[in-house]
Amino acid sequence: MVHKLALIGFGTVGQGFVEILLRRGADIARRHGIEFVVVAISDAVKGSIYCPHGLDLADVMTAMEETGTLHHYPDGPLVIRGWDSLQTIRESNAQTILEATVTNVRDGEPGLTHCREALSRGKNVVTTNKGPIALAYDELSQLADRQQCRLLFEGTVMSGTPVLRLVNTALVGNHIRSIRGILNGTSNFILSQMEVGLTFDEALQEAQRRGYAEADPTADVDGWDAQLKTLILARTLLGASIDRTAIPCKGIRTISPRDIMAAKQRETRFKLIARIDATSHGIRASVGPEEVALTDPLAGIAGAVNAITFDGDLAGSVTVVGAGAGRVETGYALLVDCINLVRGTI
Ligand code: HSE
Repeated sequence: MVHKLALIGFGTVGQGFVEILLRRGADIARRHGIEFVVVAISDAVKGSIYCPHGLDLADVMTAMEETGTLHHYPDGPLVIRGWDSLQTIRESNAQTILEATVTNVRDGEPGLTHCREALSRGKNVVTTNKGPIALAYDELSQLADRQQCRLLFEGTVMSGTPVLRLVNTALVGNHIRSIRGILNGTSNFILSQMEVGLTFDEALQEAQRRGYAEADPTADVDGWDAQLKTLILARTLLGASIDRTAIPCKGIRTISPRDIMAAKQRETRFKLIARIDATSHGIRASVGPEEVALTDPLAGIAGAVNAITFDGDLAGSVTVVGAGAGRVETGYALLVDCINLVRGTI
């Protein structure tokens, strides 16, 4: 079965996805009977190309390697250039829109408009963009239901590490009593590097160089990125009707090398911890640095790695540790959602 995709936003995540398809596309077709065809890529900076029969992904990546843009993608009789994101969503023949623009913590734009536009036209949306899901999940999921299409967003929390799908499939039937985790790789990387002697600024620069950090790294170090992920977990897994203002949030800027060394002597370690508790008074959530004992499983999570513990009333405590960022890992999250979407599974 052929399934046509359009990529909106062609940064690290979109390129990671295309690289995976180049490598794994034939294998997915053979094993799962699904041939993913990318018909359009539209990026506000890198350019825009559309071909109704599908783009040549090797040519796409060659153009990117040579010029960092899509402008040198070869011409062809059916190739159209220059469509903006909304025109691509409206006029391309893609069945599914992969929304991979940069997260905007303030109003979710332009991703939110992209998601609304696609869903209102009956096109599925798969996204790694936290803004639209954190800020407008109810609206978007209701729109998807009305339009009989799907909205999938596994990559918004812990990239390709299964978290949302884990709770909705393997842990289904549990009442999740609490969630506790390290949800921001950049801040965890910085804290780990500070423990071995780097300054905050040196560690942040290294995280940016490795592509972990958000376009605006204040979202990482001030806790907003973890706050958005906490909101996504609370809303989509626990059905909490809360917004960002209900999640107190503090980042890691105030933790000095001296604090880190003092914690070491106390046999503890600073971690940026996201918490969600289902209480008799409703859902309580917060993000902030905590000193955790070395015996705590979260203390052992070093570098850009994320971890999350779900406490289910039937399954007990289940912890997942894995990547929370990265080109391939987040591109993979798009692939997982695409495969489940075409299969009709959760
Ligand atoms: N910047 C994020 C992090 C990755 O460092 O965890 C994407 O959510």
